[in-house]
Amino acid sequence: MSFTVSLYLDLAPKTDSFSEEVIEGLSRSQKTLPSKFFYDGRGSQLFDQICELEEYYPTRTELRILSEHMPEILEALGQSAILIEYGSGTSTKTRLLLDNLTDADSYVPIDISREHLIAASEHIQKSYPHLTVLPVCADYSQRIPLNLNPTPGSRITVFFPGSTIGNFRTDKAVEFLSRLCSIVGPGGGVLIGVDLVKDVDILKAAYDDALGVTALFNQNILMHINARMAGCFDPDMFAHRAIWNEEEQRIEMHLESRDRQTVELGDTVISFNKGETILTEYSHKYTLESFASLADQAGFTVDHVWTDPDRLFSVQYLTAVTPGRNGREQQPS
Ligand code: AVI
Repeated sequence: MSFTVSLYLDLAPKTDSFSEEVIEGLSRSQKTLPSKFFYDGRGSQLFDQICELEEYYPTRTELRILSEHMPEILEALGQSAILIEYGSGTSTKTRLLLDNLTDADSYVPIDISREHLIAASEHIQKSYPHLTVLPVCADYSQRIPLNLNPTPGSRITVFFPGSTIGNFRTDKAVEFLSRLCSIVGPGGGVLIGVDLVKDVDILKAAYDDALGVTALFNQNILMHINARMAGCFDPDMFAHRAIWNEEEQRIEMHLESRDRQTVELGDTVISFNKGETILTEYSHKYTLESFASLADQAGFTVDHVWTDPDRLFSVQYLTAVTPGRNGREQQPS
């Protein structure tokens, strides 16, 4: 039996803006690269390896919270007819939820990588033949027009695990959550993984592991650029740095130039001083209070919080109280 799944919505994330975004970021006084460019094939594999590392506590801690508190989570979610997942790469966590969420009739995975999305959707369809799988190919940092109508008495739930919310700048996190608020509508909710503020040594080790996998993941962004832009980055000329920014409560990943150097990217030449860095990622950490305040600004109230005994990580259920601050999501014409 074949389990072919077609895209429900293809917002064809632009790939031609790759070079523009790279040059724009490397032209700033603090050079930056968008963290979404980590995830080419090798970057996604390295990220999977990070999730298995001893030092990287978020993945296993979130999974443990989800499995240990599943009955309470299901009770909080209530009757969820439609489950939307942003960044649908995390099939272990999705399956854990779908195995238990027996009244879900539709599953809407949203991902930027078309091939990855279709393959993941077909696997899900095979395991859960009763589900209507509606994959959406889109860059989820953008507005996504979804036209979903839950059956009366049931609700739309968004699943956003992994503390990916931490990778957004705070203002962008509020904007993103506001959009989710519009999508789920009053009464709908978001089940979200949120990493917590903790001992700085634990945080630094999680982003600078002893085996150097995170360093390879960080340097891989340069190889991805080389492949896409006929670039000449030598990744070994950039050292991985993971810095805790106390004021902003975030880990910042940088690539530090080991020497004075110039790098050609097609027709553009970028100069680096010795010690100059490229900022590649923010990973914000929250307290329960600071996250509740963020959720509140986006129109949500925190309904439930589940944590592990060491309070490393949290899974939170937010319910929409007002349509997102940025207004209702546009419906497709
Ligand atoms: C995807 N995101 C939640 C990860 C994080 O922890 O911020 C990305 C990552 N970067 C380095 N290690 C993991």
